[in-house]
Amino acid sequence: MRYSITYRSGFNAELERQSLIAGLLAPNAAISPKYFYDELGSLLYLAICRLPEYYLTRTEASIFTQNREAITGAIGTGKQLVDLGAGDCRKAAEWFHFLKPSRYFAVDIAEAHLEHSLGRLAEEFPDTEIVGIVMDIATGLQLDGDLGTQPATFFYPGSSIGNFAPGSALQLLGQIRTHCHAPGSGLLIGVDAKKDAARLNAAYADPLGVTASFNLNILNHINRLIGSDFDLNNFRHIGFYNESMGRVEMHLEARTDCVVRIADSNREFAAGERIHTENSYKYARHEFESLLQQAGFTTIQCWQDNVQDFCVFYAA
Ligand code: AVI
Repeated sequence: MRYSITYRSGFNAELERQSLIAGLLAPNAAISPKYFYDELGSLLYLAICRLPEYYLTRTEASIFTQNREAITGAIGTGKQLVDLGAGDCRKAAEWFHFLKPSRYFAVDIAEAHLEHSLGRLAEEFPDTEIVGIVMDIATGLQLDGDLGTQPATFFYPGSSIGNFAPGSALQLLGQIRTHCHAPGSGLLIGVDAKKDAARLNAAYADPLGVTASFNLNILNHINRLIGSDFDLNNFRHIGFYNESMGRVEMHLEARTDCVVRIADSNREFAAGERIHTENSYKYARHEFESLLQQAGFTTIQCWQDNVQDFCVFYAA
């Protein structure tokens, strides 16, 4: 099995803890969405991707399948493949046969996830060099030492870019662009499109309650991380499209007045008060093209499904 995992520091557990606590004690309480992905949260996210209402994963997969040759033609073969937010690595693995990567870099914040996925992948593709990098891309991308001078294809599927505010998304795209200095490098990225509110509301507040469980589970995770005593029974899931902001918002709303022990403080939540847990920005095709151009990409191609629910861009 040929795979290795490296850990990028920049991660400071005490600083992370302090900022998590500060976010919870603030008048407009918030938790970063990166805390969704403990082991159970990662499984719940995979379950969300299978929901009939959550069209994103399915639609992106069908755009990939239907345009495999054109996309492969745009990218070329034999390059390094850098999977940002790799998760279970399945989406990238489907490209191996076509792109024939010389090396595969799986970048993810969740190390437990990577260990498991890369072991499986290395068995499936024994001839490909596989490197796992544990890194929070939100704090900055630093891969120059890993990539060397060979061209690299960055792969960022699933509309994960939507979880960044547009300014931070532009910053991340700019960093990816600076890593594309070797000729033949580029970015393959999936982006969810703006659409009517009813469909977005259903995708983020499904009747089965899987998204609600995913959202509430963040409280279990932070109880473990900082020793708080959130009672999940006191909160409910809220997910809705905020049209004026062009984003879906997720919150946890207190069902009743309650007090939560957070670090050395008693944080009082009034009934109806919300903890903001996620934004998921949606982009019209031209809006995201413009973001890619601002980030320095000059050649942009786009593939969409029949009803333009989702966009896949290759930018170089
Ligand atoms: C990971 N990310 C792209 C998902 C999204 O749609 O924003 C996370 C998610 N949140 C609720 N459902 C799925």
